[in-house]
Amino acid sequence: MPTTVVGLDERLEGGIPVGSMVLVAGTAGSLKSSLVYRILHHQVCTTGRKAMFVSFEQSQEQMLAQMARLGLGQQLPAGLNLVDLTEFRTQVAEVDDQPWLETFLALTQRYVAQSECDLLAIDSLDALYALAALDNPRAQLFHFLHGLRALNVTTFLISESPRGSERFGHFGIEEFLSDGIIHLRVREEERGNHTALRRYLGVVKMRQTAHDMDYHPLLLVDGRFELVVD
Ligand SMILES: Nc1ncnc2c1ncn2[C@@H]1O[C@H](COP(=O)(O)OP(=O)(O)O)[C@@H](O)[C@H]1O
Ligand SMILES: [Mg+2]
Repeated sequence: MPTTVVGLDERLEGGIPVGSMVLVAGTAGSLKSSLVYRILHHQVCTTGRKAMFVSFEQSQEQMLAQMARLGLGQQLPAGLNLVDLTEFRTQVAEVDDQPWLETFLALTQRYVAQSECDLLAIDSLDALYALAALDNPRAQLFHFLHGLRALNVTTFLISESPRGSERFGHFGIEEFLSDGIIHLRVREEERGNHTALRRYLGVVKMRQTAHDMDYHPLLLVDGRFELVVD
């Protein structure tokens, strides 16, 4: 499945293996949401696959406005279901002792089966954790991620890393249960009298694929993602 990032697919022997569960990790502003939305949008528009993007962080309106700036239009293409759970998050935050993670998994399983959805994105795992009261996080997360994997749809799990963190997932479990890890880094670079922030993309892991381990600069120019590879 192509990533839509110019220069990346050839480094992945063509793209992301269909059916993989991929962790997309990075600090705030590293383009995680934009990249994942773009991959789903591209798949829906060019192959007719169906996709669901679950947003816990940005409303549908905010997402569409941001994606319109990337040239992806103001309208959702048929086949792309952008589920806005930002309100849900504020409403359920007050209700304790609910197994939200299990409930969310069960609803997702039902949706995928009923709609024959091929791609799934969760933005972000951290926002989901914040609303799910996890009394035994490792066991609950293990069960949750196994359940997602068993769906056999290509899944993108967005993970927000704190600045300077070496962890891709909050609990560490995400890293070994995922088939792939795409890491988006924002690096500070001193340029004379100012500090520039530069984005880099690295493929840390992609099962079934020979890939390099280098981080390359990631540009977003005229709505097009591009790796700078020399
Ligand atoms: N055309 C563009 N080129 C480069 N950066 C952009 C462009 N449009 C938006 N941005 C920046 O992208 C960031 C938002 O990307 P987003 O995908 O939401 O990141 P994340 O999900 O990792 O927090 C913001 O910092 C915004 O300023
Ligand atoms: Mg985001």
